[in-house]
Amino acid sequence: MQQLQDARPVSASRTTLTELMIPSYANFGGKIHGGILLSLMDKVAYACASKHSGAYCVTVSVDNVDFMQPVEVGELISLNASVNYVGKSSMVVGIRVTAENVKERFVKHTNTSYFTMVAKDEEGHPFQVPPLILETQQDVRRFIEARERRRIYFQSRELMQKAKQAFDLQEEVKKLEGERCVLKVTL
Ligand SMILES: CC(C)(COP(=O)(O)OP(=O)(O)OC[C@H]1O[C@@H](n2cnc3c(N)ncnc32)[C@H](O)[C@@H]1OP(=O)(O)O)[C@@H](O)C(=O)NCCC(=O)NCCS
Repeated sequence: MQQLQDARPVSASRTTLTELMIPSYANFGGKIHGGILLSLMDKVAYACASKHSGAYCVTVSVDNVDFMQPVEVGELISLNASVNYVGKSSMVVGIRVTAENVKERFVKHTNTSYFTMVAKDEEGHPFQVPPLILETQQDVRRFIEARERRRIYFQSRELMQKAKQAFDLQEEVKKLEGERCVLKVTL
């Protein structure tokens, strides 16, 4: 186990990125592309994870990307990121995204997402990151929630793998009744 003196507080790597949504970020409907937001989230997750670990990091998985409200051109996007959980080499970075309409003076919450980042050493191998110092009740709650989310994710991944191995097309196709699809293939 790493010593406490190596540990770093959540507050030390907390990162905020603010960016103005310009017309070239918009889709045909005039709203901001989801991909622009994802790219900004990836950027802030990298900044936050590399600050905590002091290392080069890669994005391993992205959880919970539900855009609840559209973002408009001219709005100011703020991405508030913090390390919620650390494993050995992995870190879960929670990102809360808000969009501010400066003219109308309102702020809306667009999404909260979780990026799992892994720190790498010079040879590209996963690298052990510092433990996390939890200074507030919110830090503790987020740590526990992230650990639970991770456990559920690995459990469901295992279940999916088992279901794939046991997959029987003839049997599964019988369960398609009521679905909005048309089978144009002989099985
Ligand atoms: C993710 C990666 C580092 C895993 O490498 P590996 O040699 O299999 O190492 P490990 O199995 O020890 O996994 C390293 C950590 O990643 C975690 N991890 C691996 N896959 C994961 C997943 N799908 N979701 C969440 N965490 C995951 C492991 O739990 C482990 O965490 P821990 O060290 O805190 O216990 C490797 O697959 C990789 O480099 N992927 C490419 C990442 C990348 O390039 N991203 C940018 C995409 S454009």
